[in-house]
Amino acid sequence: MRLFLDTANVEHIRHGVRLGVITGVTTNPSLVSKEGNIDYKRHVQEICSIVPGPVSTEVLSQDASGMVVEAREVASWAENVVVKIPASLQGVEATYELAKEGVKVNFTLCFSVNQALLAALAGATFVSPFVGRLDDIGENGMRLVKEIVAVYKNYPDSIKTQVIAASIRHPQHCIEAAQAGAQISTVPYQVLMQMIQHPLTDIGIRRFLEDWNKVMGSTVLKSKVS
Ligand code: G3P
Repeated sequence: MRLFLDTANVEHIRHGVRLGVITGVTTNPSLVSKEGNIDYKRHVQEICSIVPGPVSTEVLSQDASGMVVEAREVASWAENVVVKIPASLQGVEATYELAKEGVKVNFTLCFSVNQALLAALAGATFVSPFVGRLDDIGENGMRLVKEIVAVYKNYPDSIKTQVIAASIRHPQHCIEAAQAGAQISTVPYQVLMQMIQHPLTDIGIRRFLEDWNKVMGSTVLKSKVS
């Protein structure tokens, strides 16, 4: 499973890329608005120059032709732009048109297997089931990811759409997305930071240092390390 960062924050993206584990970014209008009153085009272009893979940016139009016009414009900003199109009927039509033109679509706000099937049939490159938002209303978001992955696997020759587990809220979601076979999880920065955390690792590092220092002294350790 690959990891994308679900943010529009440039510093967080730089850090994720520096770690070598982040290969894409997903944004949405809510995430972009957290960055303040920015120059949207320049901001997206900056993110695209930092990230070695797809950068999803969402259209705001509600009708298919408006989505297509907006998507063409956004897709021209950088080679790695992917256009997020919502899982509506208008979105299916726009996805089909854009896919024919070679514009990559991330079919977003997906909450059912049927929406994911239509995304694949229309030619979307990615589909984004929103795990956390289904959990929020008492459903099982990860079950949807599993079901989409299983259905797509039945048609390996015709369905190439990749599943992005989105609306990830905590590290357990990442584990379950990987177990479900999602090709990608897009995670908030805070979840990325949590993924490495384990109290026994911290205790272990501290204990190794204490044991070493008792015998060798801290100056010896510093000279050995440098
Ligand atoms: O990738 C989708 C994500 O941005 C939505 O997350 O936490 O707002 O449901 P959330």
